[in-house]
Amino acid sequence: MKAIVYTTNAGSTEQYAKLLVQETGLPVYSLAEAKRTLSSGTEIVYLGWIMASTVKGYADAAKRYRICAVCAVGMGQTGTQVDVVRKKNAIPQQIPLFTLQGNFDIEKLHGMYRFMMQMMVKFAGKGLSNKQNRTPEEDDMLDMMLHGGNRVCIENLQAVLDWYKNC
Ligand SMILES: Cc1cc2nc3c(=O)[nH]c(=O)nc-3n(C[C@H](O)[C@H](O)[C@H](O)COP(=O)(O)O)c2cc1C
Repeated sequence: MKAIVYTTNAGSTEQYAKLLVQETGLPVYSLAEAKRTLSSGTEIVYLGWIMASTVKGYADAAKRYRICAVCAVGMGQTGTQVDVVRKKNAIPQQIPLFTLQGNFDIEKLHGMYRFMMQMMVKFAGKGLSNKQNRTPEEDDMLDMMLHGGNRVCIENLQAVLDWYKNC
């Protein structure tokens, strides 16, 4: 493994990338920086934020680099939605995929992304609010939608760090 490469919109994926740097000592680049400096074929861990189950930047990064693991950062709880994300992004089975819960703050979003999430909060949030017998995961998602949330923490990286130590 030679580097950590990430794509962020509102900052949580960058926070995870920097936490991984502290733990691994690997150099870190945004995907835009990596395109200027990292030679193609370099072995990387790729981190991207999730938009409608798509891991932003993954397809682009996969064309240039040898991706050893993917960390997909979304609103859902750490370790959830792995199958959906793997399928949607056609991430090969042999590449470890970790989902990590990031942050959500509608005030940090702009343009189309803000509009999309306003709609999501309005419709999905209403659906969840009215739902009887919500699971703890659904309660957490509703709380994120209604009040925002900062969920980035080192504990969420435990599975990634366990994988890294053994690879
Ligand atoms: C337009 C849009 C679509 C999103 N779709 C999803 C999604 O499908 N699944 C999910 O878990 N989170 C989704 N999110 C939430 C973000 O992935 C989450 O807030 C993440 O922490 C953002 O990372 P960032 O702070 O690095 O930009 C979406 C956010 C936006 C703005």
